[in-house]
Amino acid sequence: MTKPRILVAREVFPETIERLSQHFDVEANPGATPFTRDELITRLQGKAGVFTTGSEQINADVLAACPDLKICANMAVGYNNFDVAAMTARGVLATNAPDVLTETTADFGFALLMATARRLTESEHYLRAGKWNSWSYDMFAGSDIHGSTMGIIGMGRIGQGIARRGAHGFGMKVIYHNRSRLSPALEAECKATYVAKEELLRTADHVVLVLPFTPENRHTIGEAELKLMKPTATLVNIARGGIVDDAALARALAARQISAAGLDVFEGEPKVHADLLALSNVVLTPHIASATIPTRLAMATLAADNLIGYLVHGKPLTPINPEVLAA
Ligand code: GLV
Repeated sequence: MTKPRILVAREVFPETIERLSQHFDVEANPGATPFTRDELITRLQGKAGVFTTGSEQINADVLAACPDLKICANMAVGYNNFDVAAMTARGVLATNAPDVLTETTADFGFALLMATARRLTESEHYLRAGKWNSWSYDMFAGSDIHGSTMGIIGMGRIGQGIARRGAHGFGMKVIYHNRSRLSPALEAECKATYVAKEELLRTADHVVLVLPFTPENRHTIGEAELKLMKPTATLVNIARGGIVDDAALARALAARQISAAGLDVFEGEPKVHADLLALSNVVLTPHIASATIPTRLAMATLAADNLIGYLVHGKPLTPINPEVLAA
């Protein structure tokens, strides 16, 4: 029997390709450079499935040009690269890779918060530049994590992981804002109190963004929101580029309207706004919050198992639009 044909849109673990090859005729991008839109469409001809990594845009145009496509499996928990409504309308299943990255990503969110508040990279650059000649009482004085108030916007699984680290590990007061309130049991477990967004911005010492990107929450943090924050506050974005207005943030950081920012995601990444690059009070990382080998392997395996689950057994593990299964 001929195997279904699939495309792996970016270089991934050899063991993932091996796993997929047991079930599919696999065409794999051997490199880290994403396919252009036209190349993606060309390579998707005759393919029943595609393994994507979060940067391949699957929209109505691409779907119309790829009539054989039945499933797009994202090796990411976020899926703003998918037009889910268009996929559902065409009967194309979308899957993502939740849960397996929760703790690793929460670790990183906390690491970025600490690096930002305690000026880790700025002080390291100073040392490496040979500028450290003497002790000074306020040299690279930052802001405390322990005992401070952390405001989390987006209280899904990763937000909850960060809340637990802050509340249980560092004695932080945790407040949060989310589309919907957590259950009382979860709030108690995370020691987190629900507040309105404006109150969170006014009172938090550290604001951490972990919400999914949707067109409605583009620029959740812009000029007006930054004005509400304390001048001593830290802002951390491990969610998605576009949730923060990066130009407005650069202006606020330059004017010391807020103290510092830690950013793992950017509008238009992998490009980074030039004004952010010029600032010292911002820690910048290249979208690596889930990047440990075991976690990235688990994410790749889950994406592969979604392709196998659906195309071979009719049962994907983590569907985003399960309506397609019922149709
Ligand atoms: C990473 O950003 C992801 O969505 O998994």
